[in-house]
Amino acid sequence: MNILIIGSGGRESAFAWKLSQSPKCSNLFIAPGNAGTGQYGTNVDIKVNDFKAIGDFALNNAIELVLVGPEEPLVKGIHDYFLADEKLKGIPVIGPQAEGAQLEGSKDFSKQFMFRNGIPTAASKTFTIDTLQEGLAYATTLGLPVVLKADGLAAGKGVLICTTNEEAQTELTLMLKDAKFGAASSSVVVEQFLQGIELSVFVMTDGKNYKILPEAKDYKRIGEGDTGLNTGGMGSVSPVPFADAEFMRKVEERVVIPTVEGLKKENIPYKGFIFIGLMNCNGEPQVIEYNCRMGDPETESVMPRIESDFVDLLLGVANENLDTVELKISNKTAATVMCVAGGYPGDYVNGKAISGIDNVRDSIVFHAGTMLENDEVKTAGGRVLAVTTIQDNLFEALQHATTDAARIYYDGVYFRKDIGFDLI
Ligand code: AMP
Ligand code: GLY
Repeated sequence: MNILIIGSGGRESAFAWKLSQSPKCSNLFIAPGNAGTGQYGTNVDIKVNDFKAIGDFALNNAIELVLVGPEEPLVKGIHDYFLADEKLKGIPVIGPQAEGAQLEGSKDFSKQFMFRNGIPTAASKTFTIDTLQEGLAYATTLGLPVVLKADGLAAGKGVLICTTNEEAQTELTLMLKDAKFGAASSSVVVEQFLQGIELSVFVMTDGKNYKILPEAKDYKRIGEGDTGLNTGGMGSVSPVPFADAEFMRKVEERVVIPTVEGLKKENIPYKGFIFIGLMNCNGEPQVIEYNCRMGDPETESVMPRIESDFVDLLLGVANENLDTVELKISNKTAATVMCVAGGYPGDYVNGKAISGIDNVRDSIVFHAGTMLENDEVKTAGGRVLAVTTIQDNLFEALQHATTDAARIYYDGVYFRKDIGFDLI
């Protein structure tokens, strides 16, 4: 079958790598893709939010399945766009419609959904400019630190963890009164801080049935020892040692089942991935956030652990018979180390020539922010390459991924050498 992936990052590279291994995938297209995705399929020069161009391409190329990587086209309604068109509605889209994508698109929506469905999450209330005074008062009742979250999508920057009351008061005012994060912060969730260790759990659902994909841990800070600024993610490992059978049983019973059942009960159609950002608080799972897509760089560690044909799983979602599809997971350990641009997550310069990818020995190199210029692979983003390996145990995986990442060179190249070592 002909499959179209929407997106251009490391996550989409990992999807393309996995789908290209399926005998059922005859033609694979990636829109827009990057310098690396061309080795698994054909790149198509269309932007992820250009629904008309995507729809036209799907019709002209007999696309039979669309897999949406990033959240933005989902929140903006790419799935709804297909369903609303007579000719497109027969092409299954993997990724929820705009309503379900609100689980990520609106922090307030997701918190209210959790409260309604008894899903464990931190106490919170949502405020607007009209209720700023109540918000300032509520913030002081939650103890410190206190968490402020812009309601809408803010390119991963909309969450502030305030360590003093003064900071919380100033920041809440800036968000609501001065539109610190634009329209995204016209509503702000004021939330209790959760102490614990984070992990990402991924669920695939057809709206009725679900499968829990391999869980992963993401390393968000730029600096070693988890210090410095937040990034899109500097590396990941899967499985996560502390997510043992007992913890995952709690996650399934208290979070996954009520989430899928809640969507059903509230008549919210949902075909796609649910990324559950969890805090393990002394062995008890608490939901920090939902995303309506897979994680990046988690997908780079999750895909290599899936032994089943990924096309079968996607078709199970599309055809609402995911219960009949087998999900086989490798018990090996995958580790991903992200090579990023010098200066990232602050300012950085694109267009640096990349060398050494061919010297990598025991890892797959998933391109994230790369481009081809005069047949040369160059940097084109903050997160440049994801170096992923799969090995018998965590220690070996971390060693190989780090050693291989060091074989890559471009001006300013940086990666964390400590990804996953806290778990050993
Ligand atoms: P988000 O943008 O929702 O992914 O949040 C960014 C990060 O902020 C999360 O990955 C957590 O590390 C942190 N965070 C968000 N909410 C809380 C909370 N209630 N308690 C502690 N940390 C939080
Ligand atoms: N790695 C976190 C995310 O994809 O949002």
